[in-house]
Amino acid sequence: MQYKSIGIVIGIALGALSLTGCPVKGTDEALEFKLAPTFTSMNYANLRQQVLEPFRCIFCHKKMDTEEGLLTYVVPKQCYASPLWIKVASGEMPKDGPRLSSSYVDLVKMYIDDLEETEPYPTPTPTPTPTPTPVPPGPTPTPTPTPAPIPLAPTYVSLRQNVLEVSCAGCHGMSGVPAGKRKDFSIYDVTKTMAQEMHDRMSLPDTDMDVMPPAGKGRPKPTAEQITVFQQWMDAGFPEN
Ligand code: HEC
Ligand code: HEC
Repeated sequence: MQYKSIGIVIGIALGALSLTGCPVKGTDEALEFKLAPTFTSMNYANLRQQVLEPFRCIFCHKKMDTEEGLLTYVVPKQCYASPLWIKVASGEMPKDGPRLSSSYVDLVKMYIDDLEETEPYPTPTPTPTPTPTPVPPGPTPTPTPTPAPIPLAPTYVSLRQNVLEVSCAGCHGMSGVPAGKRKDFSIYDVTKTMAQEMHDRMSLPDTDMDVMPPAGKGRPKPTAEQITVFQQWMDAGFPEN
């Protein structure tokens, strides 16, 4: 299928993180637009007719003229990770027009929910299975080593393994998930640049809308100790080791 050919793919880790039931944002106060027609499923052609053309998305975003282009703004089944949904639900898009009423935001969500999940990333190259040669008795082969745990310390490498891979994975480019437009914390420079905001959002109470990771999305909140060590890493000048 077409969307399988593009770069947006999902890590196996996401299986546990199926983000169904995204809250419906948007507002019915946006009375400039009538209620959206009722659909039970949504494909590109319908989304185009109902949203992308009338709200002039395609006029400004030439990429949305094809489904392949549109899919660069989407992570299938995850509206929270899809800029397409985030931007219309928050009202940031359409750029110069009135925001979509919630029933139109719902059509976007339906489109994202109806997409099939893409292949896990990276797609393993199928290697031909070699005919098993009889193993002569001898020393047992050493199993492939799992990455050694790194103690929690104010270094990028440690924080990445102990905090970011655990709490931010699946959404910010961790665990082999290409970030697309999301901030990719598996990249040192991104993490360094975003550090203050990351720290602030990790430190928010669960009840705050901006808390990271978002509450109820299957990712544990960093512990107070981890957040303190993250702060120490910032204070130490963001060591890259
Ligand atoms: C008048 C032009 C205009 C219209 C209409 C418009 N956009 Fe945008 N959009 C922009 C610009 C410019 C940006 C980048 C700057 C920004 O984010 O403010 C942007 C950014 C975005 C992004 C983020 C892209 C990224 O790289 O992360 C998404 C997603 C998006 N728009 C979706 C939409 C959708 C969906 C619609 C229709 C409902 C829409 N836009 C309508 C101009 C427009
Ligand atoms: C379930 C998915 C998910 C997880 C897990 C998650 N985030 Fe996010 N994050 C998002 C989404 C979606 C946005 C964009 C909407 C927003 O700003 O609230 C975002 C936005 C952010 C932003 C603002 C980015 C910007 O462009 O301004 C920061 C900083 C951030 N997250 C940090 C983190 C950190 C740190 C973690 C892990 C401790 C984390 N997030 C875990 C989904 C997630």
